[in-house]
Amino acid sequence: MEKNHYQGLINKYRQYLPVTDTTPVVTLNEGNTPLIKADNLAKKIGLDCEIYLKYEGSNPTGSFKDRGMTMAVTKAKEAGAKAIICASTGNTSASAAAYGAKAGMKTFVLIPDGYIALGKLSQAMMYGAEIIAIKGNFDEALERVIEISQKYPVTLVNSVNPFRIEGQKTGAFEICEALGDAPDYHFIPVGNAGNITAYFKGYEEFLALGKTTHLPKMMGFEAEGAAAIVKGERILKPETIATAIRIGNPASWKQAENARDKSGGIINFVNDDQIVEAYKLLASTEGILAEPASAASVAGLIKANKLGLVEPGKKIVCILTGNGLKDPDSAIKYSGCEVKKTSSELSDILKAMQI
Ligand code: F0G
Repeated sequence: MEKNHYQGLINKYRQYLPVTDTTPVVTLNEGNTPLIKADNLAKKIGLDCEIYLKYEGSNPTGSFKDRGMTMAVTKAKEAGAKAIICASTGNTSASAAAYGAKAGMKTFVLIPDGYIALGKLSQAMMYGAEIIAIKGNFDEALERVIEISQKYPVTLVNSVNPFRIEGQKTGAFEICEALGDAPDYHFIPVGNAGNITAYFKGYEEFLALGKTTHLPKMMGFEAEGAAAIVKGERILKPETIATAIRIGNPASWKQAENARDKSGGIINFVNDDQIVEAYKLLASTEGILAEPASAASVAGLIKANKLGLVEPGKKIVCILTGNGLKDPDSAIKYSGCEVKKTSSELSDILKAMQI
């Protein structure tokens, strides 16, 4: 048998990434995530299209951040950095802490106190990060870490670090390779707007190389209570149950608008009810537990379809950015499931089963 050991996205896509043969690659074998055809969902929402879900929750720390973090930490290591820092709504901190541990670096994370899903916090704790919870939101935390990284010898690994975008663009490469071309529509949650920027860069690069024939329409969705780009102004107190995208001043704001405008797409918003509906639908119709923020892409598709913005017969990809296991509180709260307790007697169990 021929040896075929997948060793992460830098090794797979090194010709498209700013690395050399001597770059010390820091990897947890991220990327290569499943692209799952969602026929039940298409039927349920009455859309005559091929829908695919890119399940980024299967990355090593459970979110798409690993794609960017392998690049950012690899380049930090190449430059001799001893410490990294980030602001985070949870996933970036989990990913930074994991890659920091792998690289033997110290990791500092600033998080908004009380607004981090339990799983994400427990990950950063176990990977050994220095965790600082501030009385403030993500936007304020990001301002602080930018300041700190400019004054002290710690490398910033938020998506304002261009290497993050380089790593994350490989998600677009994987989609194009799986489908044999770019999709027609690309639905994606928008928080700090790094990921929509990265995917668009990936699609543009494959088009320029002649590997694909067109760009997908980039369809970005913010949460209504944090919809700075849609509303055209910074939201000082962003609010949404999708804490991962509870962001009021996206760092890649202009790049997201560029992706929208160049691709003929949209940036719109979905409200918390629509997010919860999509979150539940994904689990109950497709067997996929994504986190609430991830469901914003599917909520966006449902909304766009209702508004008549989706042409039938097209290929659609929705990015599911993070694993639902990161946020067990939301899963338990919104599942509506009541656990039935009985004795261990067969008759009691059958009674509970109602058969
Ligand atoms: N989905 C999830 C699960 C996220 O964690 C994030 C961002 C996004 C979507 C939005 O992506 O910021 O590139 O537009 N999470 C960051 C964090 C902010 O700190 O983990 P974006």
